[in-house]
Amino acid sequence: MSTSDAASAAAGATPARTPFDLPDVSGLVVGVLGGTGPQGRGLAYRLAKAGQRVVVGSRSAERAAAAAAELGHGVEGADNASTAARADVVIVAVPWEGHGELLAALRAELAGKIVVDCVNPLGFDKQGAYALKPEEGSAAQQAAALLPESRVTAAFHHLSAVLLEDREVEEIDIDVLVLGEDRAATDTVQALADRIPGMRGVFAGRLRNAHQVESLVANLISVNRRYKAHAGLRITDV
Ligand SMILES: NC(=O)c1ccc[n+]([C@@H]2O[C@H](COP(=O)([O-])OP(=O)(O)OC[C@H]3O[C@@H](n4cnc5c(N)ncnc54)[C@H](OP(=O)(O)O)[C@@H]3O)[C@@H](O)[C@H]2O)c1
Repeated sequence: MSTSDAASAAAGATPARTPFDLPDVSGLVVGVLGGTGPQGRGLAYRLAKAGQRVVVGSRSAERAAAAAAELGHGVEGADNASTAARADVVIVAVPWEGHGELLAALRAELAGKIVVDCVNPLGFDKQGAYALKPEEGSAAQQAAALLPESRVTAAFHHLSAVLLEDREVEEIDIDVLVLGEDRAATDTVQALADRIPGMRGVFAGRLRNAHQVESLVANLISVNRRYKAHAGLRITDV
């Protein structure tokens, strides 16, 4: 305990929290919408392997059950609505094209939940990947607009699903930028990222700045193509 913490504890005040004090999230259930795709499967695998209870969702309960069986580590499968209803924290891992429609349909199930949007609205042409410009500003802001009763955050955009799914890879060397309006929610998502070996959650601002984070994936795809890599990011001096 630092001198100032000791002084405030002695005075009966709550010790000052630092950005590195994160909650214990080990008891939370994580749901993954679109958990049958590479990104959803990869996150489900890593979190479940770290001891988290995970439910993968799908538009088809059968596809979800099949994906869960392949993932192992206690992962369960359900349709997207049941996944949302059962989870405390819900990761959205569907393509941008289906994002708005799916979230609008799950508004009731997602009420009160922490929603983690990892969707990157990108276009692809002969020159490679480029960032789309969602009307609401970003995928995360679209989620927040559609889910006013949820605690919407944005994270996990820069991960390579190939690395996440590769069972030979023990550690994922990356910082996960976490954005949101609700500090307790972003702390929870940072703590979830921290459970995965090699990964670290870093608070990176409010949702109005999610567009750059989502768009940066177009740059990472260019890096990956040029260097035949699975590039990630590290934030220095934090
Ligand atoms: N792949 C990566 O490396 C990576 C990295 C970071 C972030 N992301 C983001 O994560 C999201 C998922 O990526 P992915 O590569 O896993 O995508 P994906 O395989 O194309 O889609 C994931 C799952 O979403 C469901 N889905 C497909 N179309 C849908 C629609 N119109 N409405 C509702 N659900 C639909 C499908 O599951 P069911 O058919 O079983 O419902 C599919 O298995 C994307 O938004 C991407 O930008 C991906």
